[in-house]
Amino acid sequence: MHTDPADYVREAIRSVPDWPKPGVTFRDITPVLQDPRAFRVLIDIFVYRYMRHRLDLVAGIDARGFILGAVLAYELNLGFVPVRKKGKLPFRTVAEEYTLEYGNAAVEMHTDSVRPGQRVLLIDDLIATGGTMVAASKLLQRLGANVIEAAAIIELPYLGGSTALRDTGLPLYTVCSFN
Ligand code: PRP
Ligand code: ADE
Repeated sequence: MHTDPADYVREAIRSVPDWPKPGVTFRDITPVLQDPRAFRVLIDIFVYRYMRHRLDLVAGIDARGFILGAVLAYELNLGFVPVRKKGKLPFRTVAEEYTLEYGNAAVEMHTDSVRPGQRVLLIDDLIATGGTMVAASKLLQRLGANVIEAAAIIELPYLGGSTALRDTGLPLYTVCSFN
């Protein structure tokens, strides 16, 4: 018997040892999406949290943040904008680089995807080091957005993402964590 909806979601997440490389346990959200009840419980957690935040837009991070962000935006009657990996968007873009364990990556947004002052929620499936979330929030801020909060299903506290994000002044909300 589940009393906490977050526990129900957490138990639906699959942990895959040694993927994509030895020593990494990959937290796979596809079983949550596949189970209609878990998917609804998850989206409802976000809907109830954000229904009174007077948001204008949801920005979802490539790729699993698109799935969550688009459904959440639809439920909250908001627009959705994608934060994409470099080289995928067709119109004028702004880019922000960030560091991965090996090398660099960059995220991009269309220059007209946010109007100055719009209240934006940033969402992804998981925060690890926080590099992706920090880069995405910097991009949004460069476009003039008022980034209200960053949200994810999963936090990996031992990788320091919440600290990195807190250092930029952006609040973080996560449904569950894995140590
Ligand atoms: C994963 C995850 C986040 C990011 C978190 O995506 O979906 O976007 O890593 O890591 P960080 O907090 O250390 O930045 P990944 O970069 O593997 O890309 P994918 O969506 O193409 O799988
Ligand atoms: N992104 C970075 N680390 C991850 C992990 N352990 N599981 C899923 N996505 C990740």
